[in-house]
Order: sequence, then C-alpha cells, then structure tokens
Amino acid sequence: MINVEDILKGFKTPESRWARFGPYYAMFPLDFAFEVVEKYSKEGDYIIDPFAGRCSSIYAGGVLGRHSLGIEINPVGWLYGTVKLQPADKAEVTDRLLEIYSKRNYYNRAIERTPLFYRMCYCDEVLKFLFSARKHLNWKMNSIDATLMSILLVYLHGKLGEGLSNQMKMTKAMGMNYSINWWKKNKLTKPPEINPIDFVIKKLDWRYKKGIPKVFDSQVFFGDSTTELDRIVQKAQGTDVRFSLLFTSPPYCSVTDYYADQWLRLWLLGGPEVQKSIQEKHKGRFVSKEDYYNLLDTVFGNCAALMDKNSTIYVRTDRREFTFNSTLEILQKHFPKHKTEIADRPFRKKTQTEIHGNTSKETGEIDIIMIR
Ligand SMILES: C[S@@+](CC[C@H](N)C(=O)[O-])C[C@H]1O[C@@H](n2cnc3c(N)ncnc32)[C@H](O)[C@@H]1O
Repeated sequence: MINVEDILKGFKTPESRWARFGPYYAMFPLDFAFEVVEKYSKEGDYIIDPFAGRCSSIYAGGVLGRHSLGIEINPVGWLYGTVKLQPADKAEVTDRLLEIYSKRNYYNRAIERTPLFYRMCYCDEVLKFLFSARKHLNWKMNSIDATLMSILLVYLHGKLGEGLSNQMKMTKAMGMNYSINWWKKNKLTKPPEINPIDFVIKKLDWRYKKGIPKVFDSQVFFGDSTTELDRIVQKAQGTDVRFSLLFTSPPYCSVTDYYADQWLRLWLLGGPEVQKSIQEKHKGRFVSKEDYYNLLDTVFGNCAALMDKNSTIYVRTDRREFTFNSTLEILQKHFPKHKTEIADRPFRKKTQTEIHGNTSKETGEIDIIMIR
C-alpha cells in the first residue's frame, strides 16, 4: 500500500526519489498533483492530462494505481515524464554513460569553435562530454539513452556546485549575453572544474538508491494534443475505456515561452546553438488570442469525447481575464451538464507561480473544477 506522505516528505522510497524528477517552468506542486488524483479518482480509473509538462499528474495517477495518459509537446517535459514513469536499468545507463564519455575527445576541435557562452558555462571536459551526448544519445527511441539524457538535462544548469554549469538558474536558462555579463560582473568568468563521470555517477547513485518506482499502466506521448488526441479517440472507440478525470494545466496566454526559457536544454537535445523563440504553432508564447482559443477548444473538445459522463474536470489556469474566461467558456461548452466550481488555492502548499517567484498577494492560478 502506497503511503502518499512518504512520497511528499523525504526520499525514503523509490516513488519519492523519482517524483520530483525534472525542474520545469510552471510545474504543479507535487502535493497538489497527488491530492487532486486521490480526491477525484479511484484505483483502476483512467486519467488524462493533454498538457502534461513534467507529468506530475500522470506520475501521481500511475503511483496511485490509475491508468494514466499524458501528452506533451515539449521534449524537455516529455523526457522527464516518460523517464520517471519507467526509468531504464541503472547498470545499462551507467555503461552507456561510460561509452558516451569515451568518445569525448572527438570533440576537441568542436568545442574550440563554440560560442564564448559555452566556454564560460562549462569546463572543457564537461563540454566535450556534452557534445558527445548530444551527438550519440538516441533519446527519442531508446529508453536507456532517454534516461541518461534526462539526467543530464536535470543537472545541465543550476546553482554553482549543484549542476554541471557555471552559476545559473535551474528552472530557466538565461540568454547568452545576459549570462556572460553576469558572470563577468560577479567574477565568475571561469567555469567550475568538474569530472563529468564522477558527477553523473553520484547523481545516478542518489536517484536509484531505493530502486525504481512502481507505476501502474501509465504513459506520456510526445506530440501535439491537437493531433494526438484524434488518434486516442479513434483507439478508444468500440472499447469501454472512458476517462474519469481530466486533470491538466494548459499553457497560459502570452505568459511563458517554454522554448526560449529552456533553450540550453533544447540545445543538448540537438536544437539550435543560440536562444530562439520558436515560431511553430503551439510551441511559442501563445501571443495570438485566436490561436490560443482554438488550441483549447480543439483539445478540450477531443477530451470530451473520451470522458465518462460522470467524470471530473480539474483545470488549473491563469487568473488573468482572457485565459481564464476563454478556458471557462470552452470547458462549459464541451461539458454542458457538469456543475462548475471556481476555487482559489483549495490545496495547502505554494502554487506554481509562487514556486517560480511570484510574490504578489494574489496567486497567479485559479482552479476550475467541474463535476456531474
Ligand atoms: C502549464 S504547463 C503544464 C505543467 C504541468 N502541469 C507540470 O506539472 O509540469 C503547460 C504545458 O503544455 C504544453 N503544451 C502546449 N501546447 C501543447 C500542445 N498543443 N500539445 C501538448 N502539449 C502542449 C507546454 O509545452 C507545457 O509543458
């Protein structure tokens, strides 16, 4: 029998060691994810999160014995999620780490040609190793490579001594010029000397110390919910699978740009060498109100086709007018028979914008809960 308090407090079990895996902007507080799953579903139920982020909702569902299904478009969030649901065997990850490290010297020339930012951020040994990982890890298709890559992503940047980098925020990568100027101003022009093998092995030892989590039938798809859900709806047709909890937090209109904020992690996954905002649909900041509205309308419309008639819809969103009003209007259109309750911080701990530095009295989030 799983003890949720053990997961939320301390690191005594494999479930607690993997629960917080992956720093991600706008992530759910962990206790919130577990409380919603426990309160609004029961064992054996089906849960869906079409904007899964680092997948705390899906992880809580899987650990608590619910069939849980997530979709995430951002590779960083998807990797954290897919790995924590099913990390690869530690010995195989360690062997792969040694193999990647052994190829680092092929990148002696490459690091010389790289922009100054990288040379100030990482010592040469780390940078050559990262080039090798970037080139050889087949993180989309192979679970050992995905596990190793996600560990590297977690520690790619952070406070001095806690990550592989020079001083940086952990949740969000700052721009190249900003970082260079900041390091110069703070006399941190030399990156810390780190042996990447010792560093990563220590992190693997800690993460796997209690084993790997027991997670019930759960997965997260890498892709765009506007198209992935069509496939899921078709697959569910003719079966008696119906979801009893839709538990999600959509992107907020015009707030964060998950691609620009995660640019350094995206670089390690093979993305551009410089920070860029992505112009592709559903990957930028959602500045177009029309596109934003259509995204929610399509996704929640497709979810409605999957939900049981007595389902619960739990959506945490931005309290600002446009995002909130659009979300409410769309949810009420697709779930016309559900009763709506609006809740302001119904659960006890910090909300996600407080975790990320919102100190104003008003919380950034508000919860829409719909029940039959
Ligand atoms: C507010 S965050 C969710 C955070 C999540 N609750 C967590 O705990 O990490 C919204 C997420 O929706 C994802 N997203 C945006 N558009 C999407 C789409 N069309 N399909 C799938 N995911 C999408 C973003 O990449 C982002 O990770």
